[in-house]
Amino acid sequence: MIKEYISSNKDRFLTELFDWLRIPSISADSRNKQDVRRAAEFLKEKLTAAGVDSVEICETKGHPIVYAEKIVNPSLPTILVYGHYDVQPADPINLWDSPPFEPVIKDDKIFARGACDDKGQVYMHVKAFEAMMKLNLLPCNVKFMVEGEEEVGSDNLGVFVKENKARLKADIILISDTALISLEHPSITTGLRGLSYMEVEVTGPNRDLHSGVYGGAVANPINTLCSMIASLHDDKGRVTVKGFYDKVAELTAAQREALNKAPFDLEEYKKELGIDEIKGEEGYTTLERTGVRPTLDVNGIWGGYTGEGAKTVLPSKAHAKISMRLVPNQVSAEITELFTKHFESIAPKYVKVKVTAHHGGEPAVTQTDSAAYKAASKAFEEVFGKSPIPTRDGGSIPIVALFKKELGLDTVLMGFGLDSDAIHSPNEHYGVNNFLLGVETIVAFYKHFAKK
Ligand code: BES
Ligand code: MN
Ligand code: MN
Repeated sequence: MIKEYISSNKDRFLTELFDWLRIPSISADSRNKQDVRRAAEFLKEKLTAAGVDSVEICETKGHPIVYAEKIVNPSLPTILVYGHYDVQPADPINLWDSPPFEPVIKDDKIFARGACDDKGQVYMHVKAFEAMMKLNLLPCNVKFMVEGEEEVGSDNLGVFVKENKARLKADIILISDTALISLEHPSITTGLRGLSYMEVEVTGPNRDLHSGVYGGAVANPINTLCSMIASLHDDKGRVTVKGFYDKVAELTAAQREALNKAPFDLEEYKKELGIDEIKGEEGYTTLERTGVRPTLDVNGIWGGYTGEGAKTVLPSKAHAKISMRLVPNQVSAEITELFTKHFESIAPKYVKVKVTAHHGGEPAVTQTDSAAYKAASKAFEEVFGKSPIPTRDGGSIPIVALFKKELGLDTVLMGFGLDSDAIHSPNEHYGVNNFLLGVETIVAFYKHFAKK
């Protein structure tokens, strides 16, 4: 019955999703403030049409949160669906094969910013809910909380959660904002990394200098910043920030073995990325390096002259944005402090450094022995014909840890993206089948979860 509903409404589902994807809801860019609001209003309209009892655009200090409910019967279990309708900036725009906010289908994939992260995945939930309403299959209560600031650190969601604890009462959080191994090998994400995001500024002379007149006699802050950054890893690929690994939970041999059972083809991985060799912390596999090991990466570096042609300059300042991905039991605020102290301590006397913290977030591990996990597992089995493999993802969804702390609720991470979907990159895409199978699996999850 559900399969038929999905296939006969497929075109409309996609047309609606395309309308949503056309709204450039870039949370990071203040020029898109009204677009972000329009995307919230679009969602409100679609949730209303799908049959929620109530839906509200909740104002925050930043972008609004869309909150909706359908209470079938207060004595039934409640699923709280979380997602985000904001997207990353589309730059570099010239690397897109088609405009980022003009969705197109090519090779059965939807190409647009937000197609996978996370509008496409949120929309599966809206359509799964619509289908259950239409077919009279909704077996439990559902609450939707979809925010517009996930890509900029969810600064105001914490306040909303703290102020609305009673309203958000639920039995489980359900999120589709992660990836599957593949459609042939369905998986459920059971862990996410945390984050500490820093910015550093290195200052040398009090003004930009002629690189011929002063070069060789005065320290160049870009050269200095590069050596400082280079020193942040040792020759074994380990982060040298003092105390960085102190709280890292090491996996048992059995846990490592289980993690490495997931299908992974290194040759395919390198080929897809166009690299000849991989690189990472010695002694760990790729799945471990991205799933359960902490990292440090420069996300951007700038200074001096980067315009057209050549300008001879010894710059006064150099900058970098540096992120660290964290694993249990590292604490974001602690790592931020360790980094700050370390970076200040390695600064040579000939420069001054300023370290500032951007957003952070805690790592999270979800339960695999809960009724909710089992329901999710059964749902995948039913739709994909295979039992899903538990995996650990390298990305971060900081509110998962926050939900646990503030609401005491566990999360099921039922994502349908693929690592190759190019989220945050040019040509982001999402498989039409991933979308449709996602809708079906979500409906199956509700069924199994309500039965528990
Ligand atoms: N959906 C991603 C996180 C993700 C991607 C988890 C792939 C697992 C697999 C999310 O929208 C995201 O991009 N999060 C940011 C962190 C946030 C604090 C800006 C991230 O991971 O960089
Ligand atoms: Mn996301
Ligand atoms: Mn994202």
